[in-house]
Amino acid sequence: MVDAAAPAPKANMGDPVPRYDARAKVTGSALYASDVALPDVAYAFLLSSAIAKGRIKSFDLREARALPGVLDILTHENIGEAIRKVKFFTEGGPASNSILPLGSAEIAYGGQTIAVVLANTYEVARDAAHRVKVDYEVDRPTATFESPGAVDQELATQNKKHDDPKVGDFAAAYATAPVKIDVAYSTPAQHHNPIELFATQCGWNGSQLTVHEPSQNVYGLKNGLATQLGIEPSQVRVVSPFIGGAFGSKGALTQRTALVAIAARKLGRPVKLVPTREQGFTVATYRAETKHRIKLGATRDGKLQALSHDGFEVTSRPDPYAVAGTDASTRMYACPNITSNVTIVRADRSTPGFMRAPAETPYFFALESAMDELAVALAMDPVELRRLNDTMKEPIKSLPYTSRTLMPCFDQASEAFGWSKRNPQPGSMRDGDWLIGWGCATSAYPTQMAPATARVSLFPDGTARVEAASHEIGNGIYTVAGQTAAERLGVPVGKVQVLMGDTDLPPAPVSGGSISTASVCSAVAQACDAIRAKLGDNGTGAVPTVDLVATLKERGLGSVQEYAEWMPHGAAKGGMQMLYKGAAQPIGGAKLPDRIQFAFGAQFVEVRVHARTREIRVPRIVGAFASGRIMNTRTAHSQYMGGMIWGIGSALHEKTEIDANAARYVNTNLADYLVPVNADVVDVQVIMVPEEDTLVNPLGIKGIGEIGIVGTSAAIANAIYHATGQRLRDLPLRIDSLV
Ligand code: MOS
Repeated sequence: MVDAAAPAPKANMGDPVPRYDARAKVTGSALYASDVALPDVAYAFLLSSAIAKGRIKSFDLREARALPGVLDILTHENIGEAIRKVKFFTEGGPASNSILPLGSAEIAYGGQTIAVVLANTYEVARDAAHRVKVDYEVDRPTATFESPGAVDQELATQNKKHDDPKVGDFAAAYATAPVKIDVAYSTPAQHHNPIELFATQCGWNGSQLTVHEPSQNVYGLKNGLATQLGIEPSQVRVVSPFIGGAFGSKGALTQRTALVAIAARKLGRPVKLVPTREQGFTVATYRAETKHRIKLGATRDGKLQALSHDGFEVTSRPDPYAVAGTDASTRMYACPNITSNVTIVRADRSTPGFMRAPAETPYFFALESAMDELAVALAMDPVELRRLNDTMKEPIKSLPYTSRTLMPCFDQASEAFGWSKRNPQPGSMRDGDWLIGWGCATSAYPTQMAPATARVSLFPDGTARVEAASHEIGNGIYTVAGQTAAERLGVPVGKVQVLMGDTDLPPAPVSGGSISTASVCSAVAQACDAIRAKLGDNGTGAVPTVDLVATLKERGLGSVQEYAEWMPHGAAKGGMQMLYKGAAQPIGGAKLPDRIQFAFGAQFVEVRVHARTREIRVPRIVGAFASGRIMNTRTAHSQYMGGMIWGIGSALHEKTEIDANAARYVNTNLADYLVPVNADVVDVQVIMVPEEDTLVNPLGIKGIGEIGIVGTSAAIANAIYHATGQRLRDLPLRIDSLV
């Protein structure tokens, strides 16, 4: 049987080395944050606001406190010490929102933590939380777009770093374009719902605090928490060796950690918090709902002449969060006249945050649906429309891509899919009661990097060790970092120990923005090269020219250890010091001055729509991607496939329902918040297209963590149009979307 999860490496691809952490995970020996057994631990249960706007008039804690086993109940009235402010990320800080935990009686969003109940057992803490009585003064909240009280603001006025991409004269070109479309799309709020909940355990040893919390940014958590508590960063250690799903939800400092740390200090014993699945919807962030208006103008033979993309995104009252996907959507196709605008809409909601390809997932649903609509208007094959408008220079500033292998992705995926057998007429392909539709879309994701460090040691017994405080979020970073060291030191990969997820290790950047492999492996390679130089290897290739271990033995050394600080091209001068401070830095800022860097892909989908019930199935999906050097075809295959499967969920299943009156989330559990299950995912084929990019970084790595989801939902919507002749423009696409 073919080992589908481990495709044979093609050019510029590394071996499918099994995951370093696989055995620990499948045998259950991998300890996640809530698995760590701290002695004499007390349990915390969060009390969440039942209203979305207003203030707390009073608490009645008597009944809760009277419950045997209750240790304390923290509220804004009695917490006793102010938690210090940390900045929200648009201001360069680590915070997921800028509201102080238990800072006042004011309620800014439904689910806001208003009290922490502490008890000897989880059950007592939970029971007591339900016995707390809260008297609220309730204001009418604003739920979402067009709700009473929603405030629209141009993003550029709220975030000085944002600049709406524009070039040429859109209005004039659109007015005279012979073929044009003007269409609107929307995407819903979605929550990450990692299987591992947002657990936190804190224990003090004198003035030293240890935090066990799943994190995509342990240095950000360490430094942010130290600021909140008014202590030195050196007093805080964050431990996070395994993360049970994150997808962006575990990157920022949430409100809970400082509360657990303070509770542990007050009680003089460790405290464990495992918020419920429902609380996860407001303890962490989410993908906000978006709206789009796209106008495309083209010549009769399909050349784009005018493109306009307006995006609208919901955010909270205090924080100007936006994903602003027009940065990418305006840079995909050759077009001389482009305009774009992003509007944020303030509502009484928790602040949204990063969720897998935060910008590209919603904005490419719009762009790639619109491209399909244009192809229909032109009576042109949608692949050929993309080929005609393919470009090796992005259109806004005419910067060349470091590499762009988009059309080979389309060609290889369409060949594998059998696209040439498609009858373009909607509704023309049928299998009994099932209407068959074939659709496609472009995937793209910017190549981003950040400063990173690593310490590598080589020992005379032929073993090596890699240390870097990166995060195993399922991306395979342990494995690819170990592979990098093994190759460059000339030792077997099984002889390399890899330590990560601990602020006692040298810092790594936030594991977000698909930056980890390029950043961390570059630092590891740099440290290995320093070891090689020390041991007399003057070669510059990936593999050493001398036997390093033999040299080490000859010289009678106990070990050789090198620490490297790697700076990507274009990184800010202070970037390394910011890394140590865990400060948010523009991961997209590591840019070449005269180039633009993206990974590309193409996705092809078959849908089957039942002619009578309108049931929508996706029996097969083929994606081809070119993302520079692939470190490990096994882990890369999983990354791409996971992204595509999540794309199926984004298209057909996922939607966080918002109560329009209460501004609260409704389907806050995995029974009602739908995600794809095995029966929804039949045949997913991943094609890795070889690509060599010598400009992005010395190893030639582009990120692959997020590109897999981009374009999937548009490809599905386009296939549904082909099956039914009905154009669905509002996600998710469900039975009741079809007439
Ligand atoms: Mo990703 S949404 O940058 O963790």
